[in-house]
Amino acid sequence: MSEATGSPWPGPAGLIPVTSGKAEDANVYNRAYLDRIHVEMRVIDSARPDLTTSVFGRTFSSPIMMPAFSHLNKVGEGGRTPMEEYARAARELGVLNWVGMEPDDEYARIAAVGAPTVRIIKPFADHDAILEQIEFAEKNNAVAVGLDIDHVVGTDGGYDVVDGIPLGPVTQRDLAAYAKAAGVPFVAKGVLSVSDARKAANAGCAAIVVSHHHGRIPFGVAPAQVLPRIREALEGSGVAILCDCGIDTGYDAYKVLALGADAVSVGRGILRPLLAEGTAGVVKKVCAMNEQLSELMLYTGVRDTRLFDPTVLYL
Ligand SMILES: Cc1cc2nc3c(=O)[nH]c(=O)nc-3n(C[C@H](O)[C@H](O)[C@H](O)COP(=O)(O)O)c2cc1C
Repeated sequence: MSEATGSPWPGPAGLIPVTSGKAEDANVYNRAYLDRIHVEMRVIDSARPDLTTSVFGRTFSSPIMMPAFSHLNKVGEGGRTPMEEYARAARELGVLNWVGMEPDDEYARIAAVGAPTVRIIKPFADHDAILEQIEFAEKNNAVAVGLDIDHVVGTDGGYDVVDGIPLGPVTQRDLAAYAKAAGVPFVAKGVLSVSDARKAANAGCAAIVVSHHHGRIPFGVAPAQVLPRIREALEGSGVAILCDCGIDTGYDAYKVLALGADAVSVGRGILRPLLAEGTAGVVKKVCAMNEQLSELMLYTGVRDTRLFDPTVLYL
């Protein structure tokens, strides 16, 4: 933080910012990056937009999807199950649901809500455990399955351990084996470079999520910042480009979609309404985001979600 301004950026006097390199810095940087993007106006001939979006060959009411959260049923007070509550919101809204690290029995309960769901599995050191979870997800009608490859590294500089389960390295060959084993589209979540995007595409991933998992990597570049390069590198590959991190309003979603994402996930932006009001809170939050997205699309002449144009943006 700059001592003079309390901001992580150089103040007007050009003070050099001092950051700790902790995860929160990547989130602060990401927020600042999204906020500094502005848009021009293209209202003549503009019309109310259609938010309908196709992902994994399915049609959804909006490009704003649920996040791949996990572990929230452990913090649900009074027997509440926030993982199921946000799945119900996805079903009600007609958007794609995502689920992160959950054991099979929990995953089955969430899937039983009936929202189209993507299961993201941890990069376990035990490859058979990954293959078993892929198979279980498919049996429970998952739309797609994937791995959050950005969770390989722990804060001790080695491989992370989650819930006592060791995680391990992920190679392009591993990804190719998982993608081949999966009978549904396979997703690499946590791509933050052209290099990894190309490897994921070469491994046969049907989609990538450009993300740093709310700041896992110290000093991580903003996903929105690296997105245009990834879009360019994957042009014509058929790989869907999804994105998350810091998307809290429909305006954030608009910017990230204009920068090249096919769809986005709201993350911690739904956490507070979810824990306070359950399904209704999430529905309210995403409806408000859809209105904001529609507002900026109408202001900038974007009639549907296939027609975003990065030339309206000023960075
Ligand atoms: C409570 C919680 C649990 C999460 N669990 C997982 C997980 O198991 N797998 C995963 O890929 N991402 C997980 N994430 C990361 C989100 O999927 C998403 O990448 C991140 O929250 C986006 O950043 P944002 O919160 O700034 O929007 C989790 C995030 C939170 C807040």
